[in-house]
Amino acid sequence: MQDIKAILREKAVDSTLTAKGWVRTKRDTKNAIFVELNDGSCFGNLQCVFDANTIGDTVRGQLDRLNTGAACAISGRLVASPAAGQPVELQATSAEVIGEAPVDSYPLQKKAHSLEFLREIAHLRPRTNTFGAVARVRNQMAFAVHSFFQERGFNYVHTPIITASDCEGAGEMFQVTTLDMDAMVKAGKPVDYAKDFFGKKSFLSVSGQLNVETYCMALNKVYTFGPTFRAENSNTTRHLAEFWMIEPEMAFAELPDNMALAEDFIKYLLGWALDKCAEDLDFFDKRIQKGLVQMLDSVRGSTFAHMTYTDAIKQLEQNKDSFEFKPFWGCDLQTEHERFLSETVIKGPVIVTDYPKEIKAFYMRLNDDGKTVRAMDVLVPKIGEIIGGSEREYRHDVLLQRIRDLGLDEAAYWWYLDLRRFGSAPHSGFGLGFERLMRYVTGMENIRDVIPFPRAVKQADF
Ligand code: 4AD
Ligand code: MG
Repeated sequence: MQDIKAILREKAVDSTLTAKGWVRTKRDTKNAIFVELNDGSCFGNLQCVFDANTIGDTVRGQLDRLNTGAACAISGRLVASPAAGQPVELQATSAEVIGEAPVDSYPLQKKAHSLEFLREIAHLRPRTNTFGAVARVRNQMAFAVHSFFQERGFNYVHTPIITASDCEGAGEMFQVTTLDMDAMVKAGKPVDYAKDFFGKKSFLSVSGQLNVETYCMALNKVYTFGPTFRAENSNTTRHLAEFWMIEPEMAFAELPDNMALAEDFIKYLLGWALDKCAEDLDFFDKRIQKGLVQMLDSVRGSTFAHMTYTDAIKQLEQNKDSFEFKPFWGCDLQTEHERFLSETVIKGPVIVTDYPKEIKAFYMRLNDDGKTVRAMDVLVPKIGEIIGGSEREYRHDVLLQRIRDLGLDEAAYWWYLDLRRFGSAPHSGFGLGFERLMRYVTGMENIRDVIPFPRAVKQADF
């Protein structure tokens, strides 16, 4: 059986066929009954038209039970459509209800529902136009990620999800344990992690970077793409507690190589979306963010601006009245700062480099000034940071000193330090937040609407 995407694409007029899907709308007129059928294979519906004067009682009986949301099979003959906006329609002769959706209890009716409401019915929201489109674009973007790296000779490495080390050193990790905490509290006993599943304290990983670096020092170009977890208490439209991240790492590569890769990568992903998801992007352009397609197209053909953190701070200080949080050299850039730089100063993506070491992770290569590190963040309009990365500190003594200065547990990083003792080489990489990319490509405002089942502060339903 063909899906609706193939039926609409092949337009085999005069063929008889059966289509299966879910009813989007049903409309009764004096002479005809119109059923819009969608099966998720594409944005468009197959319009099925029944002749009200000739259908028999059996078909009518079935049609009476076909409400919005019902699953069904409809058969008929494909004909050229007299209606605008669709090349073909089905001259339907039979209908079979597969699964009903009673009109008084099915929450998705024809009217538009708010995104907030749809978040409460995350199990049904993929049946809406918006979430169907998000799901198809997300699928294409995941495929494009692999395609980009595979075309360039990168090896895909599976890094662990459970870990004993904190990659970002920020202490924002979810603990993983099989200890019976309740029983221990009741017994008034101190927690003994030697008795825990792994024999020590362990966590869900915030990033696969440290692990992927080990493979980088053997296979050169590598990447990881998997779920990562952060117990940040940030209730915002750009933070999730569980998100997907793509992290490439290249040996014998310095910061400019890293910046070039990040730029190529983003442009490739936007181009892929434009080429493969035209119908869905068209919808986002009309309903979610006006001018989206043109924006994506112009970024695809653009060259990203570069700016040091120090220059960025100068720009921000000149406009300090625009900000709630007053910028100063040494401060971490807030979302409002990042957006101002990309939206107002550059009017497009900008790569900011050489941040103060105090606000960046321990593994970033220290510059000769002793104050800044070879970090790079890619900032884009509406979102702010979409990529964070750096050249890595590959000098053993400097890295060890950084770990000690920050009061991190030196022993826990023994294997990471070993990479700097044996065959160390300059290397660089970055992390792209997959849901931030999804917001950029679709124009969706809230990160909770570009992942099927969002996990955020006080939210782990479904
Ligand atoms: O800047 P971050 O923290 O960098 C790292 O994790 C490095 N280990 C990456 C590397 O160099 N291999 O995170 C990278 C990206 C951010 O730029 C952002 O897009 C996304 O991950 N991100 C989040 N996305 C959603 N929710 C969150 N809570 C996120 N935190 C980071
Ligand atoms: Mg970052």
